[in-house]
Amino acid sequence: MENSRSTFSGKLGFILAAAGSAVGLGNLWRFPYLAAQYGGGAFLLVYVILAITFGFVLMVTEIAIGRKTQLSPMEAFGSLNKKWGWLGKLATLVPVLIFPYYCLIGGWVTKYAGVMIMGQLEESANDEFFGAYITNTVDPLIWFGIFIVATTLVIIFGVNKGIEKLSRFLMPALLVITIVLSIYVVTRPGAGAGVKYYLLPSIENLSVKTFLAALGQLFYSMSLAMGIMITYGSYLSKEQSIENSARQIEIFDTAIAFLAGLMIVPAVFVFSGGSAEALGKGPSLMFVTLPKVFNSMPGGRWIGIAFFVLVLFAAITSSVSIMEAIVSGIMDSFKMSRNAATAIVAVYGIIVGVVCSFGFGIWADFTIFGFSILDFLDFVSNSILLPVVGMLTCIMVGHFVGSDVIIQEIELNEKFRLAKFYKVMVRWIAPIFIFAILVSSVLEGVGIIKF
Ligand code: TRP
Repeated sequence: MENSRSTFSGKLGFILAAAGSAVGLGNLWRFPYLAAQYGGGAFLLVYVILAITFGFVLMVTEIAIGRKTQLSPMEAFGSLNKKWGWLGKLATLVPVLIFPYYCLIGGWVTKYAGVMIMGQLEESANDEFFGAYITNTVDPLIWFGIFIVATTLVIIFGVNKGIEKLSRFLMPALLVITIVLSIYVVTRPGAGAGVKYYLLPSIENLSVKTFLAALGQLFYSMSLAMGIMITYGSYLSKEQSIENSARQIEIFDTAIAFLAGLMIVPAVFVFSGGSAEALGKGPSLMFVTLPKVFNSMPGGRWIGIAFFVLVLFAAITSSVSIMEAIVSGIMDSFKMSRNAATAIVAVYGIIVGVVCSFGFGIWADFTIFGFSILDFLDFVSNSILLPVVGMLTCIMVGHFVGSDVIIQEIELNEKFRLAKFYKVMVRWIAPIFIFAILVSSVLEGVGIIKF
């Protein structure tokens, strides 16, 4: 690892790198299926409100901690307050849980890029196609293997720089194709009901689960509460505005997620009737819905190829960044060499990823609290660990380190206009609110109260 942390030269460089790591399957795959499942417009509204309040507060906090301490997340917390060092370790646990199944979904995306390239568009638009694929024992493992090995090779050969350069072209391309596809979908006959469902919040669709799902998704999508933005913050130069950088990353990330939802949720109404069952497909939603969209378009095969290849690219940039976080965490805490740490993470990822894949096929009868293995890992990391780490970070900053430490760091280059808002949020509103959401959903989950 380099001893001195390089700083990004241009302002845009930092934002692109942070956004490139933030934009991934969270925006394109996870956001749309949660929005479809948890009430459409209600989910969207809650998500946006949480993004401009809690998301912003946590993003600013993490970037400031990183820039101030110039340390990795493992050490940054302890250096601010000795008693809180463990929180950095807890935060690093999130990428560890996410990595294997992120690569498995990356494998699904690779498979669909392959399907489009080999001209199997029509078969893939069939309702049974996806289910037959993920329940298969061997086929998903091959694609998963390709994806995780590619991720590992990027780490070993240190070609991140090249990938970052490529992403300057490919990420905007992804944005363009998503806009084109969402325009195509919302102008199809029958899309009106879907657009309405996605954009208009209705109170009866609002539940505690909507809040918990939106909160977890927010942290996941913006790579918050897992140490990632602390690392990026340590690269930010002292001349750049933390407040503006945070805002731009948030806007970019939310815009992509919003468009992905606009492309997929109304398509469920157009091509599958918009029943509760069709909307509640969960992790498979994107893979079931999009081939139908491509299949209905002239030249759909080529658009399908372009789309899945671009999503694959966005997924690789994120999986590389997740793996890098784990590898450097292991190197820091166990004083291990880079190669040894990479090998351990790769082997671990492969084992757990294979288990997740079997969870849909030969081990489908095995469930944990009713979750499949992948859904369980996803639930523990996103709906429990991320909110907990986010809440504890606010408590640590608000009550132990002092919000002034963060505000001072932000004000190194400009007046922090939202300082008052920040203080109240980080000390009281964010931790209390997150705690309330967590407790009420646990109570709801075990059936003690019903909403
Ligand atoms: N935010 C990424 C996405 O939206 C996923 C992600 C989770 C991630 N944790 C990360 C990316 C850590 C980079 C580093 O897909």
